[in-house]
Amino acid sequence: MPVEKAAAAVRERAPGAAPRVGIVLGSGLGGLADRIEDAVAIPYAELPGFPRPGVHGHAGRLVLGRLGGVEVACLQGRVHAYEGQGTDGVRMLIRTLSRIGCEAVMLTCAAGSLRAEVGPGSVMMIADHINLLGTNPLVGPNDDEFGPRFPSMVDAWDPELRAMLSQAAGRVGVPLAEGVYCAFLGPSFETPAEVRMIRTLGADAVGMSTVPECIVARHCGLRVLGMAVITNLGVGIGDGEVSHDQTLRAAAAAAADLERLAVAFLEEYGR
Ligand code: HPA
Repeated sequence: MPVEKAAAAVRERAPGAAPRVGIVLGSGLGGLADRIEDAVAIPYAELPGFPRPGVHGHAGRLVLGRLGGVEVACLQGRVHAYEGQGTDGVRMLIRTLSRIGCEAVMLTCAAGSLRAEVGPGSVMMIADHINLLGTNPLVGPNDDEFGPRFPSMVDAWDPELRAMLSQAAGRVGVPLAEGVYCAFLGPSFETPAEVRMIRTLGADAVGMSTVPECIVARHCGLRVLGMAVITNLGVGIGDGEVSHDQTLRAAAAAAADLERLAVAFLEEYGR
């Protein structure tokens, strides 16, 4: 099985690693991986079956080590459905985290805000999602080894982990918004009409990732926590620019807050 092969390759490269929490780093948020202590970094190219992230701002390595006192396995570089390689890549990445021992994943991403009062630089904890990708990473024959044909998405974004993150945010004094993340396929940004539509539907933030990872993770029983770094207001809400360069710049500016939140969460989790 491809996932078992990748997991075996990780164990061979990092014998003794026992990660509890997997981390997925979003566009421009790769810096968190540099804070991992006793790090062992494995390029995706050296892990059989691993995808090659094609987007600028995504490095493509798995970094194992300790963060906030907890053993982590950090995917520095994600794959997006819009890259055109389907969702095999996201299944491989997330299921490998599960097979090497992770019990939870922390998903991070850059996103546009649909609430004017939650501006660029804010961090939004994901409370729930709306999947408008037009696809689902579990389409195809179900692999019963990982999970059921029809997994529940109730409380997909784990209430207990969210409470822990809120507590951690209070402790380190970083403001934390909370809301519903809506995923479009991309890669074009939304139209103003699409932004109005998803506001009406109850979304608070919009992006092109994260939801497939959450679905695959819940399917195989991983607990999920999500944080979106707000890089811009959705088109038509503000008059700011929306572009990938802007996303990378704004994500870099907010990365310090995200890193503090992630470390504080892990400290809480490890207690
Ligand atoms: N839309 C979609 N994806 C994004 C955005 C946005 O406004 N900002 C960052 N990623």
